[in-house]
Amino acid sequence: MNEEKPQPAKNIILVGFMGSGKSTIGRELGNLLSYPLIDTDSQIEELEKISIADIFSLKGEPHFRSCETQVVENLIEQGLTHHIIATGGGLPVREENRPLLQKLGYVVWLDANSDTILERTSRTNTRPLLQTENPRETIERMLEKRNSIYQDVAHLRLQTSGLSIAETAHGILESARYFFGHS
Ligand code: S3P
Repeated sequence: MNEEKPQPAKNIILVGFMGSGKSTIGRELGNLLSYPLIDTDSQIEELEKISIADIFSLKGEPHFRSCETQVVENLIEQGLTHHIIATGGGLPVREENRPLLQKLGYVVWLDANSDTILERTSRTNTRPLLQTENPRETIERMLEKRNSIYQDVAHLRLQTSGLSIAETAHGILESARYFFGHS
């Protein structure tokens, strides 16, 4: 039998923990490739017409997670191609979302250490899951749970601590070209 694996769509998907640089790197990749950037959190806010923080407090996390699945399914249904997609840090946690992400494109895990994440996420209070008494402990506990999930879903893992935005984006571009050339 000659069953070929379906080709992923020609998008680059950024996954990784809050503060790992998905939006920043997404913007850089978008500029380099002239691809539009889609942010799943922004899509959910448009869909629900309220902020992420309000969705968590008024409708609860399970509702937010269902919105995440909905957004990814919509992008697949639209036949989206030649886009950069920055995902919310918890999007790959739902198991059903992982094959969807892989179908949507080349999945890149931006891996960052807890010091970098703490430093970046403490600049704002827009992330409901990190509004705890001890954000460092929360980040470390969540990272321990999530790292194997990111590893599982990603085609490429990139350790970003110590790399510049340009270095990270160029590394992704080169790997993506190879991936799409050979998939
Ligand atoms: C979340 C990450 C956030 C946002 C929500 C939940 C998570 O996105 O989706 O606050 O569970 O990790 P960023 O990763 O863009 O901060």
